[in-house]
Amino acid sequence: MSKEVKDTAEQAAPKRSNQPKTPTLVRGMKDILPSEQGYWRLVEETVRQVAMEYRYEQIETPVLEPAALFNRTIGKETDVLEKEMYTFTDRSNESLALRPEGTAGVARAYLEHGMLNQPQPVKVFYIESFFRHDRPQAGRYRQFFQFGFEAIGDAHPVVDAQIISMTYEVFRRLQVPVNVHMNSLGDKESRAAYEKALLDYYKSHKSELCEDCLRRMQKNPLRLLDCKQTGCRTLAETAPQTVDHLNTESREHFVSVLEYLDELEIPYTLDPRIVRGLDYYSKTAFEFLPVLSEGDDRVIELGGGGRYDGLIEQIGGRATPAVGAACGIERLINRLHEQGVQAQALPDADVFLAQLGDPARKLSIKLFGELSAQGVRVAESLSKDGIKPQLEAANRVNAKYTLILGQKEMMDGTILIRDMENGIQEVVDMQKIVNEVVKRLQRGKSQQLQAADPEVVAKMEEESGVSEAQQKLDL
Ligand code: HAM
Repeated sequence: MSKEVKDTAEQAAPKRSNQPKTPTLVRGMKDILPSEQGYWRLVEETVRQVAMEYRYEQIETPVLEPAALFNRTIGKETDVLEKEMYTFTDRSNESLALRPEGTAGVARAYLEHGMLNQPQPVKVFYIESFFRHDRPQAGRYRQFFQFGFEAIGDAHPVVDAQIISMTYEVFRRLQVPVNVHMNSLGDKESRAAYEKALLDYYKSHKSELCEDCLRRMQKNPLRLLDCKQTGCRTLAETAPQTVDHLNTESREHFVSVLEYLDELEIPYTLDPRIVRGLDYYSKTAFEFLPVLSEGDDRVIELGGGGRYDGLIEQIGGRATPAVGAACGIERLINRLHEQGVQAQALPDADVFLAQLGDPARKLSIKLFGELSAQGVRVAESLSKDGIKPQLEAANRVNAKYTLILGQKEMMDGTILIRDMENGIQEVVDMQKIVNEVVKRLQRGKSQQLQAADPEVVAKMEEESGVSEAQQKLDL
């Protein structure tokens, strides 16, 4: 066999036996590729904007927490704790967990950093990833992201309503219609009364329960309502409802939250099935479900939350009321895709830099920095030669102008500026090009603004004494 033929044969059929297997994604994990980043940016920017407007500051807590933090808060009989939490013992023999949710970590940080001495409520938000060893399926991952809002240190029902309202606002701005499903689990006293009623009901249906539910009856009756087995689900439908067992204080709190939601014109449905999958909730509990087209009967939980007045005490602090919400970002982005929303990966370029020859390339790499330092969005293909492919690349990024630096321009100390819309090219002094580009872009934007609403622009100018372009331009 000639060498050439042999090489080709080896490429086509590489020896498998002594080649290590190519590592692949861990089951349930995912890559978020560049083509998806536009959606992620859209969601994250919306969350940040809303959080800033409501004066919620960001908090970041570690991915690893003591396993005990979740054992004491989420509840031992929950699916998250029983089946889904990633726990391991590290090299120092500490029992750790990959956080399955964000609220417990925020509460730990609140206590650990003495935030109870700050003005209450302490208002924070997070955009982070969480881990649950669940069965992977559509919208269910083993590593997933949530955005969440938490307000710690205030018992007033208006805070519950505001948390719901700001979460709703994120969905509204992203144009994902949602309905809020509302319930109240009541305070400790109401919960005890409810659990008794629930037990009485289930005792008379004991023979119809699955084995897990028989155990839940002993340890955590509320979780009986969560069971996925068909028989147990049917039973849950006619089980007593929490709202019928609220004491006066819990009832008044719930009514008050609903009144604020009415005031805010936030659409909600009273839903006695909302008991949430984590044990730390008290009083208000809610979930965000998308409004789907007729006949689409999927239940997609985009987000959920509620009050957790007992949680801080459970981890050793003094009784501290709190309320929060968190939403699954992947599920939200899936909805954006389903609704046909297009999210642009990177914004169009203002300017494309094209160069011919090495000296021009050296100058271009410098010019790139000077332009972007002025806020100009510059695109390039510095490694390429030849004007045609570079102009094609300029078209792909919808550049408004292309700056062309050839050998002649290098010698003259000039540069060509080409208007990509009409193809007109002009020669500009190299020293003046940055200013020229900035000026043209500003002019373009102020013309757009004039076209949009000349009266508004003129009024703005008059009121502030600043030109409309200066006011509106993000340059
Ligand atoms: P959660 O209901 O367990 O609540 O999770 C909130 C949201 O995270 C869910 O509604 C869902 O959209 C998303 N999610 C949960 N598990 C997965 C998964 N395996 N894959 C993809 N998305 C998922 C909490 O975590 C509470 N910490 C919420 C809260 C904040 N309560 C008070 N403050």
